[in-house]
Amino acid sequence: MSKIINYNYEFMSATKVGSFGFKKPELIELGKKLKTINKSLAKKKNSADMSFCKLPYDNTIITTLNKLSKQLQKKFTNMVVVGIGASDLGAKAIIRALAGRYANQIKGKGLKMYFAGNTTDPQILDDLLKVLDIKKTVFYIVSRSGSTIEPMVNFLYLRQRVIAKVGLNKSQQHFIITTLANKNPLFQIAKKEGYLILPHYAGGGRYSVLSANGLLPAAAAGFNIKKILDGAKVIDKLCKNNNLSSNSPFLFAALQFLAYKKRKQNISVLMPYNYYLNEFAFWFRQLWAESLGKDKLGITPIAALGPTDQHSQVQLYIDGPHDKIITFIISEKYINDLRVPKIANSDLAYLGGHSFNQILKIEHKATAVSLMENNRPNSTIYLPQLNEYYLGQLFFFFEMAAVYLGELLNINVFDQPGVEHSKKYMYGLLGRKGFAKEAREIKKFL
Ligand code: PA5
Repeated sequence: MSKIINYNYEFMSATKVGSFGFKKPELIELGKKLKTINKSLAKKKNSADMSFCKLPYDNTIITTLNKLSKQLQKKFTNMVVVGIGASDLGAKAIIRALAGRYANQIKGKGLKMYFAGNTTDPQILDDLLKVLDIKKTVFYIVSRSGSTIEPMVNFLYLRQRVIAKVGLNKSQQHFIITTLANKNPLFQIAKKEGYLILPHYAGGGRYSVLSANGLLPAAAAGFNIKKILDGAKVIDKLCKNNNLSSNSPFLFAALQFLAYKKRKQNISVLMPYNYYLNEFAFWFRQLWAESLGKDKLGITPIAALGPTDQHSQVQLYIDGPHDKIITFIISEKYINDLRVPKIANSDLAYLGGHSFNQILKIEHKATAVSLMENNRPNSTIYLPQLNEYYLGQLFFFFEMAAVYLGELLNINVFDQPGVEHSKKYMYGLLGRKGFAKEAREIKKFL
C-alpha cells in the first residue's frame, strides 16, 4: 500500500479542459516561487502563526492525552465537545471520519462523542440533555479566546446543570478546558473552579486540529492519535521540497491560484466520495473561507459529497457557469467492503456481484470524466484508505495548501477580521464591558 496520499490533477489541465484549464508554462513559472516561499516560511517557523507545523512532532501531547483518555474512559461514557468554528470543526471532522455514525456504539470502546456549542439555538442543547446521562459525561470546552458567545452560553448552562446534578464539588471533574492561558473569562473560571486546563497551542484556531482541540476527542474516542500525527509529518516533510512536482500541497495551491487569478474560477468545491469525510469538507470550507477571504480577495469554498451530490449539485457544476474547480477525495480501499447480491431476471441484474467500493469508484470516475468532457477542471486526491494515518496527511495537506495559497495571493491567512467584527457587535448588544462603542454603532441600524 502506498504510504502517501496521491494528488492527480490531470483533468485540471488545458490539454483536457481547453481554455478553462491551466497551461503548463504558467504552472512551471509559479513553481519557481516555491523556493523563495519556503525560505520565507522557514524564517517564520518560530512564530505563533506557524507553530501548527510543530504539532505533529509533539510527543508529550500524545502521552498526556492518551493517559488522560484512559482515565476518562474509566469514569465516563460520553464526551461533549463544546466549541464553535475551528474549536469545533476539526474534532468533528476527525470523529466523523474515524468513528462514522455508529462505530462508538459498535466497538464499545472509547467515549461516545457529542458536539454542542456551535449554536445558541436552544433546541439543540435541550435535546442533547434529554438523552445524556450527565453523571457519565465529561464536557470538553474549547475556545481559544475564552469568550466566544456561542460556546460560552452553552458552557454556562451546562455548568449549572452539572452542578445541579452532581453538586459543586464533584462538578469539577466533569469539565476539561482548552483556552489561551491569559485573562480571558473562560480561563479565569477554569482556574477558580479547579477544572483541568489543557492550554490552547500558541497558534490560531483554524490550524489547531492537530493540537489538543482535535486530539483529545480523538484519543478519548479510542483512536490512535500518534498515527494521525505521523501522517501529518509525512506531508510536512513533503513541503520541505522546493520542487513543484514533489510538493503536492504547493501544487494544489498553485492550481487554485491559477484558476482564480487567470480564469476567474472563484469557487472551489471539495467533494469527498468517502461519506464520512463530509465533516472534513466543512472543516476545509472554514479553512478556505476564513484564511483566504479578505482584502477583497477570496475563493468561495463549497462542501459537497459524492455520490450524493451527483443528484443535486453536479448538474450546476457541469452545466452552469465556468466559475468552479472541483476536488474529489476517494479511498482506494475500504476496510469492510460489501457486495451486491446477484439477482436473476431483473433489470437490476447488472449490479449483482459488484462491490460497493467498485461502484463508488465508478461513480467518481464517471463524474470526473463527465466534468472534464464539459471543460470543467477537476482533480482527485486518492487516499490509500480512510484511517488515522491518512487523515493526518489530509489535514496537513490542506493546512499547508492554505498557507501556500496565502503566500501566492499575498494574504495573511492567520487572521479573521471579518469574524471579529460581528463578534464585537454581539458583545456590544449583549452589554459586555468595553464594547459600548460597538453597541452604539450597531444600534443605528436596529
Ligand atoms: O478560526 C478561527 O479563528 C475562528 O473560526 C474561531 O475558531 C471561532 O471564532 C471560535 O473562536 P474561539 O476558539 O476563540 O472560541
